[in-house]
Amino acid sequence: MNGDIIIREATEEDLQNVIEVNLISLPEHYIHDFWLDHLRAWGKAFIVAEVDNRIVGYVMCRVESGIGFLRRGLIKLGHIVSIAVLPNYRRRGIGTMMMFKSLERLKEYYNVNEVYLEVRVGNIPAINLYEKLGFKKVKLIKHYYLDGEDAFVMAKTV
Ligand code: ACO
Ligand code: ZN
Repeated sequence: MNGDIIIREATEEDLQNVIEVNLISLPEHYIHDFWLDHLRAWGKAFIVAEVDNRIVGYVMCRVESGIGFLRRGLIKLGHIVSIAVLPNYRRRGIGTMMMFKSLERLKEYYNVNEVYLEVRVGNIPAINLYEKLGFKKVKLIKHYYLDGEDAFVMAKTV
């Protein structure tokens, strides 16, 4: 990896590359329109990482109204739907930088004051990343994933 790491908003031209990063990195995949809908609705918080003109990571989010895990009452919640970094680019701070930008923008553009996500209970790299960013485990969902693995819900006030 020679070039600088650019962390920026995703565009529609990036989507095919983002989907490729997802296919390589995670067992949870989505149809093209799912990605496009999120980009069009909450694009200010849809972040990619680019190195040497190549998309190497992404964070896709949405905004929901609901009861907070950490805050009381009906609030606007940011939901981190999916994040991944290509294997050869991991452990260089890219996941952290993308999450920082996404969290900042969920607050700035969408007035979110809490952010949550689901993660496999066995996904130690991701859980460590989220804990470093201040997320707490707030709930366990049994058999959340198609293969039967449980999920932690993790949340953070922003
Ligand atoms: N083992 C243990 N801790 C790890 C690991 C690892 N392999 N990788 C990252 N971490 C933790 C560490 O605490 C690390 O800080 P450190 O390097 O100072 O010790 C911290 O996370 C931040 O690491 P980054 O370099 O910022 O994270 P990276 O760019 O590697 O991306 C990610 C992390 C996105 C989880 C990456 O490993 C990945 O793409 N994994 C496959 C896809 C995935 O699991 N996505 C999350 C699913 S849950 C969801 O999408 C809501
Ligand atoms: Zn989710």
